[in-house]
Amino acid sequence: MEIESPEIASASAPGEFIHIAIEERPLRRPISIFRASDTAVSILFRVRGKGTNILGKKREKEELDILGPLGNGFPEPGKNPLFIAGGMGAAPLNYLASICSGGLFIYGFKSECESELTRHLDLKNHRLLTVCEEKTGDCVTDILHKHVKNKGNIFAAGPQAMFKSLTPVCKTVSQKTYVSWEERMGCGTGLCQACAVKTVDGYKNTCSEGPVFRFDEITEEAYHD
Ligand code: FES
Repeated sequence: MEIESPEIASASAPGEFIHIAIEERPLRRPISIFRASDTAVSILFRVRGKGTNILGKKREKEELDILGPLGNGFPEPGKNPLFIAGGMGAAPLNYLASICSGGLFIYGFKSECESELTRHLDLKNHRLLTVCEEKTGDCVTDILHKHVKNKGNIFAAGPQAMFKSLTPVCKTVSQKTYVSWEERMGCGTGLCQACAVKTVDGYKNTCSEGPVFRFDEITEEAYHD
């Protein structure tokens, strides 16, 4: 979905998110920014509940109540970055990849129909490797060890189960790994603590001190699944 808002678009950076109010739902939805132009931001979401169902039915010229851009965003990608995206995790990484070049983007998804999404990624300056779990039985982390050598920093976004499986590889490499962490949110601005995640430096708010964290900051207790 492309949302026209020059104010949000001009202030946004990769890794940040917007917090969207959806009528009939008590809480806003945090959604990563997928792409930004001078006048608009785009988001990518899967329809899987009442909120995203309502959002998915919005039509051109309807208005949305949005807070943003929020969050801390990714650090500079540097040379030769390695992106690891699982499912909708492609969104924040697409934005980051769109501002740099020369990297490798590994994108994993469950079923073949999701491969359609690759057509919408802004990856002309990177090599893309896709992994379809349904087709090969592999997930992104199964092929990661083959590609991690001689790469720059690692940037990952996706389900927590994917992060867990990254641990053995990312712990043994010298480059830094950054993850875009997902938590349920309330206020989105650091006031309610609903999004607290346990890090090695104590609890941090995902909305205001994240959603991007160094992977080695995240503790085992932070995982829900
Ligand atoms: S959502 Fe309220 S502090 Fe993060």
